Amino acid sequence: MPREGLAKAGRVLASLVLAALVGGAADKPAPLDVEHWRTVFARPDHAPTPADNPATPDKVALGAKLFEDTRLSGSGDMACATCHQADLSFSDGVDRHVGHDGQPLDRRTPPLWNLAWGLSFFWDGRAPSLEAQAMVPIENEREMAGNLQTALRALSTDAQMRKAFADAFPDDPVVTQANLAKALAAFQRTLVSPESRFDRWVKGDDKALEPDELAGLSLFVGKAGCVACHQGWRFTDEAFHDIGLPSQDKGRGPVLGVSAVDHAFKTPSLRERVWSAPYMHDGSLDTFDDVVDHYAKRVVQRPTLSADLPRKLDLDDKERSQLVAFLNTLSSDDPPRPANLPAKTMVLGTNAQAIPVSTVSQKDRRFTPGAIILKVGEALRILNDDTRVHNVRIDGPGKSFNSDAQNPGDTVTVGFDQPGHYDVICGIHPEMRLSVEIAQAR
Ligand code: HEC
Ligand code: HEC
Repeated sequence: MPREGLAKAGRVLASLVLAALVGGAADKPAPLDVEHWRTVFARPDHAPTPADNPATPDKVALGAKLFEDTRLSGSGDMACATCHQADLSFSDGVDRHVGHDGQPLDRRTPPLWNLAWGLSFFWDGRAPSLEAQAMVPIENEREMAGNLQTALRALSTDAQMRKAFADAFPDDPVVTQANLAKALAAFQRTLVSPESRFDRWVKGDDKALEPDELAGLSLFVGKAGCVACHQGWRFTDEAFHDIGLPSQDKGRGPVLGVSAVDHAFKTPSLRERVWSAPYMHDGSLDTFDDVVDHYAKRVVQRPTLSADLPRKLDLDDKERSQLVAFLNTLSSDDPPRPANLPAKTMVLGTNAQAIPVSTVSQKDRRFTPGAIILKVGEALRILNDDTRVHNVRIDGPGKSFNSDAQNPGDTVTVGFDQPGHYDVICGIHPEMRLSVEIAQAR
């Protein structure tokens, strides 16, 4: 067992003991002590940044680009964003992503919101910083199966990338592993979940939560004992606990060489979790209802169970649904899209890369021009240069396309290989209409 590991073991044990003491000594305010919990759950003003990797706009922009760059993987077809998808709170919607060898990975892809405040990374906390974490998936045979040296070489041969690294690291203007890690980490620290309904309640808006949701909050911080581990505005104590899932994965234990913390995993944040099902390190629970059911009646009894886990949880159906109602208030109504993500460029049709491309604007809720004539083999680019979120739907011969949310800056490029008339509308602002005539190529 390396010395560093032992030191960490000491820290974790100390934090477990501390959490137990605090949990035991604090008088559980009942009924809900509104002012107390509003203070406890207040959000900080800004995210912390480490002194040796301050965030700059150029660095964050580079990190955002690298996050989507498939050159980081051995096969050239996988980026961080393949598994960490923005619309799914940067997870992937499956219990375990299929790895390069065709077998599911050992653990579920965790969401990436609010990691700027994290103390250790991965489900078992084996990476001490986001900078250290970033190198792991690239070289992991089963994840990106890449080779850092090959990836760095590929990036260095790209003049735009070389410039982006130089802008991001003026004191060390080169494409290196250290700079790659710093940029990815700086970008990920900007992923701060936006205010949700719960935050409006925390700020004093009594009407922001429905009575059932408030009852759920009372249970969460009271009888159900959730707050012993899901603490603070992010709802995590950053500690490791065995909560009695049947999985055989030993989690934190082997990392520390301390079998007392076998089956212990990092307490996940509960922010924006509506979008990141399924849940737990093994993705074994599909819904919040399943999660609450687990705590109420499916905990596997074993000696390593966390001292902070309620041993007997008596929750009736109504209380369970109130807890779930409360959990929902910690997520946005739509999947939030972080500001620093590069614009989405959707490409549709085999010849969408074709030149010439005509560009249509969506400024002020209007397609400009409103009608366009192209030839078969030509492509059309629709740019959201408005301040609003739009949606592009295209209907015509052999084509029926729906872009989903198309954010400001996003583009949809469509290649046409059949003549005829195509209608383009925005599903959110149906008064926006564009008529496209595709003529036979001559
Ligand atoms: C093949 C899917 C896959 C790819 C590609 C991938 N990850 Fe992950 N990521 C995972 C899984 C699975 C875990 C959890 C592994 C564990 O805990 O043992 C994880 C964990 C993480 C964590 C830790 C989060 C936490 O809460 O502790 C971060 C940060 C992260 N990934 C960032 C990245 C970055 C940056 C890249 C690109 C360089 C990347 N990932 C590529 C699947 C992936
Ligand atoms: C003893 C500490 C502890 C207590 C008490 C606790 N949790 Fe957890 N919670 C965890 C840990 C650790 C995990 C991850 C476990 C794993 O993956 O093995 C987790 C996972 C979750 C998840 C899934 C999050 C995700 O992204 O996968 C939800 C939701 C959740 N807990 C809600 C609750 C609720 C509701 C309560 C109260 C009934 C509660 N927790 C009580 C520690 C705790």
